[in-house]
Amino acid sequence: MLLGSSSSIYASLSDRAKLVPSLSSSAPFFNSVKGVRFSRRNVGYGVVAMASKEAKNQQVLDIAFEPFEEVKKELLVIPTLPHASLARQKYSDQCEAALNAQINVEYNVSYVYHAMYAYFDRDNVALKGLAKFFKESSVEERQHAEMMMEYQNKRGGRVQLQTMLMPFSEFDDEEKGDALHAMELALSLERLNNEKLLNLHSLANENNDVQLVDFLESTFLVGQVEDIKKISEYVAQLRRVGKGHGVWHFDQMLLNGDVAA
Ligand SMILES: [Fe+2]
Repeated sequence: MLLGSSSSIYASLSDRAKLVPSLSSSAPFFNSVKGVRFSRRNVGYGVVAMASKEAKNQQVLDIAFEPFEEVKKELLVIPTLPHASLARQKYSDQCEAALNAQINVEYNVSYVYHAMYAYFDRDNVALKGLAKFFKESSVEERQHAEMMMEYQNKRGGRVQLQTMLMPFSEFDDEEKGDALHAMELALSLERLNNEKLLNLHSLANENNDVQLVDFLESTFLVGQVEDIKKISEYVAQLRRVGKGHGVWHFDQMLLNGDVAA
């Protein structure tokens, strides 16, 4: 009975194995979930569809990165000549030259402000607030030039400083007085500087130089609008106070912390 029972167990298992379909024939059975049937053909179609979608995404975005193949190509375009920049990438000669021109604008504005500082610091003029304001403005414009020089080097361009023009050294004006005359000149300079910056910004856009556009927008354009507003207010205030005693009060305001701005 025991042997018989044992053989009947084997027989029984063997019979049951015959009842279970093979893997190939059972695939549709096991792939059938809650009435949804996935045939091999459908799975194959899904893989092809995904692959073509990926290829399309790569084509559209152009951001797929194949490190080993692409590095080989990139190595070929890196300059080997010692005078050529290694960092330069998608930076046009036009943008490089325009940035050098803008550096010159900043230096020239700085130079004029420095001349204004020297005028208002004279012993027979002695408007110390205006002297302080123009000295700080001169330093600020020079800093702008330096930031642009640093950026020029970052992009692999070459800084070429150009000639500066000799600024005025006298700022008195019979009709307006020296303070208003100098401040109106300062406003004109800031407006011109802004126009040059906007031209440079347009050129960067035309050259699809997004990084230069970003540099100009994030570092200069906002501050330029603020400077124009501040100096416009100074011009308006000086027009109100005239040439006499009011100028001394205005100068004291600049000297003691610019409370009206
Ligand atoms: Fe500037």
